[in-house]
Amino acid sequence: MAATTPSGKVLITGGAGFIGSHLVDRLLDSGREVRVLDSVEPQVHGSGAGIRNPGAEYLDGTVLDRDAVDRALDGVESVVHLAAQVGVGQSAYEIYRYVNENCTGTAVLLERLAEVRDRISSLVVASSMSIYGEGRYACDGCGGDDVPVRRSREQLEARDWEPLCAVCGARPRPLPTPETKRIESDSIYATTKRDQEELCLIFGRGFGIRSVALRLFNVYGTRQSLSNPYTGVAAIFASRLLNGSAPTVYEDGLQSRDFVHVSDIARAFELALERDDVGDVALNVGTGNQVTVLDVAHVLARELGVDLEPEIVNKFRQGDIRHCFGDITAIREQLGYEPSVSFDEGMAELTGWLKETAPEAEDRTKAAAGELESRGLIV
Ligand code: UD1
Repeated sequence: MAATTPSGKVLITGGAGFIGSHLVDRLLDSGREVRVLDSVEPQVHGSGAGIRNPGAEYLDGTVLDRDAVDRALDGVESVVHLAAQVGVGQSAYEIYRYVNENCTGTAVLLERLAEVRDRISSLVVASSMSIYGEGRYACDGCGGDDVPVRRSREQLEARDWEPLCAVCGARPRPLPTPETKRIESDSIYATTKRDQEELCLIFGRGFGIRSVALRLFNVYGTRQSLSNPYTGVAAIFASRLLNGSAPTVYEDGLQSRDFVHVSDIARAFELALERDDVGDVALNVGTGNQVTVLDVAHVLARELGVDLEPEIVNKFRQGDIRHCFGDITAIREQLGYEPSVSFDEGMAELTGWLKETAPEAEDRTKAAAGELESRGLIV
């Protein structure tokens, strides 16, 4: 494999957040110069200034601000675009904010990038597994190996959780989801991530800038925001367990995801920056393993030594999918990526970190569920 190690300065938009801060650390450790442009959203960071490494340069500002973007691009050779509003549920009602900041923000960034295209060698954008909607399913009823599925509202209200094959009505089996699966975004958030991905890849093609979109599966790890009501399930469950409350499990807990540790995500971004022979492509970043929400609750309880069974509330979150876990063949082959943190190791690390931050976490996770319930997003 022809790995190269470019030395130029990297701009990371959204680099003061959960994923970005891990990437900043990693790139600085490899000797890269790093600049961050981050709007330090209060929803994510509370009243703090974000997660900062003194070795990097930080500019406060949003990608919607042309002048801030121009300043951020000064002297830069490659760009990692992480800046985005993140929250499937919230995007259902804050449509303008999500479309504006994720889609228009990307448009502004790309317009300004076009002005300095001669010195830009690569653009890597964070896309999301949420763009698939449901993952891939095979159906023994009609023999399809990638069938469309449906979960109607009536079905969910009858507490019948597994999707049906849209072709023949049988119950299909979930399979690892490859990049070739149909894109069926079913939230405003997912649609904006799809747009970010496509805008960056089309831009890269048009201007001859090597562009890679990474479709992130369910990322967890230290520094995950606990103040954000839309943070991921692992951090929410761990916080509750640490404070003596049972995790609240929606549906029956047998819904599944691909939980990938943030350090593996940071490594994937680094590889995408380094590998100058790979471009114009969207790649899954996960572990390839299917893990249920109940598994998450049980592993965390074990790691924390807490004897608390999860509470299965038999409700559902509006817009949730049932199963999606990644087929990571393409990123293995093209970037030489290999997940290195096992689920058990990663959960142990997450709980170790949360033990230090837990006292303030309890009320926040309660507020998180409360906000969704009050908006009718949990039924
Ligand atoms: C998550 C991200 C999304 C990202 C995607 C891929 C969040 C909120 N969403 O979506 O932005 O694009 O991964 O990386 O991080 N659950 C419970 N109890 C809870 C919370 C959640 O049972 O208290 C269940 C949910 O109903 C769902 C599963 O856990 O079935 C996963 O939920 P979540 O962690 O929010 O992730 P995704 O919705 O998959």
